[in-house]
Amino acid sequence: MDFKEIIRVIPDFPQPGISFKDITTLLKDGEMYRGAIDALKERVAHLKIDVIAGPEARGFVIGAPLAYALGVGFVPIRKSGKLPYETIEAGYDLEYGKDSLAVHTDSVLPGQNVLIADDLLATGGTISTAVNLVRQLGGNVVGAAFLIELELLEGRKKLNDVEVVSLLSYE
Ligand code: PRP
Repeated sequence: MDFKEIIRVIPDFPQPGISFKDITTLLKDGEMYRGAIDALKERVAHLKIDVIAGPEARGFVIGAPLAYALGVGFVPIRKSGKLPYETIEAGYDLEYGKDSLAVHTDSVLPGQNVLIADDLLATGGTISTAVNLVRQLGGNVVGAAFLIELELLEGRKKLNDVEVVSLLSYE
């Protein structure tokens, strides 16, 4: 399946110089969406995964169906102020801007094998923050899976102790 063909690229969004990879064109196509999730499932099949954690919002549309396909649970990592129970939080820099993420303190149990999933690996700020949060809870991060990796931003370098799987690479 030619996933790159169906992902729309928008120049200079949300600010000049950013070439935005718009996955909504893939998500609305049932065959391609399922194909992408199935392909990611194959790429992580060798990992022992107890639960998948994914950051809001686009991490949900990759992480949750992948969790369903693997028959494991899903842990939402949310922007601060959204989760109702006790949380731990961490701030981070984005490719454009700043943000902070939170997770429920009882969402990952100590010793659980956690795969982190998101649509995109850019600078790696989001995912390294997610990795840190999961580790603070005692989770064992067994990998990080992405639909898209922006190679030039070298996010992989921030994740050098985590196995990184990406379906599509862009320069
Ligand atoms: C985007 C994307 C990744 C992150 C990648 O999310 O979905 O989570 O940025 O960038 P990084 O590797 O430089 O951290 P965004 O924060 O824009 O939020 P959204 O999913 O709610 O749109």
